[in-house]
Amino acid sequence: MHRSLLLTLLTTAIAVLARPPSRHPHSPSAAAAPGTIKCPIIFDGRIKTTTQLTDFDSYSTSPFNPDYVKGQTLKWSDIIKFPSVSPSRFDDPDQHKPIEVTISDASIFMNQRGFRRAGLQFQGDSNTGSAGSKGVKTIHFSVRWDNARPLNLSHEYLNVWHETADYSANQFNFEGGAILGQTQLPADTWKVLDRNNRQIWAVKIEREGWQNFAITVDYEKNTLQVYYSKDDEPLTAVTSAVYNNNAGEGQFQIGILKKPTGTSDVVNSGYQSPNLDEGLLYGGLFVEDSAGGCVSL
Ligand SMILES: *[C@@H]1O[C@H](CO)[C@@H](O)[C@H](O)[C@H]1NC(C)=O
Repeated sequence: MHRSLLLTLLTTAIAVLARPPSRHPHSPSAAAAPGTIKCPIIFDGRIKTTTQLTDFDSYSTSPFNPDYVKGQTLKWSDIIKFPSVSPSRFDDPDQHKPIEVTISDASIFMNQRGFRRAGLQFQGDSNTGSAGSKGVKTIHFSVRWDNARPLNLSHEYLNVWHETADYSANQFNFEGGAILGQTQLPADTWKVLDRNNRQIWAVKIEREGWQNFAITVDYEKNTLQVYYSKDDEPLTAVTSAVYNNNAGEGQFQIGILKKPTGTSDVVNSGYQSPNLDEGLLYGGLFVEDSAGGCVSL
């Protein structure tokens, strides 16, 4: 080999070796800085990169309740998957990774044969007396469609909500698909519905990339406010603080609850297509304290 060429190669090799390690070794060019969480975190459902699937089966290792809300024959390690996509806005790529929540024919909770459901509850979010049910709190979640396990938008899906302690109502509902009894609403949207199931905001369901949402629940002033962005963009308020009856305490839930068609008794009967294999990706799950108007954008 020519002496000067050898020298050039050597110099290049030394320069490469001397370079500091990349912060994002798997995506050096595409990595954007994660969103900054500026308010106190009340419940942290962000998943560490080191988390194993079986960690979701135990109170000592899961950020969620390992026993609820799922089919009895399933463990959370059967239900959750680790998708290979880049993390969402409020997950730090160095520390966190997304999850996928799935449903199958076995996703029957207790004797609720009309529903197929798998719902995560934050550890510590007790049904009564929870910090998540008083003051002003904002729940953050990012969702992403899975083309290999698509939801069937002919059905109504409840994906993120806060249910009252007596299970008689939900203070808010984040839903997709065809809302039962509200055929005027397009099926192909993510919708935020208030306690009376009235839509307060909706956006088209994307088939690529992350869609980021935050919902501020003001338990003192009885309002809801919705924030939204795509991919790595900062959240913006897409509604004002609209009146909503937020009384009744209860718990947050995140995942998939697929309602049946063709029945007035959705809990116990109706049609569900067999051989179900559906899922939805989630990232950036946390609840923050929005006292004084603090919301991470
Ligand atoms: C979607 O749901 C409808 C209503 O239950 C059903 O008729 C249809 O077969 C389902 N489609 C798929 C692809 O499962």
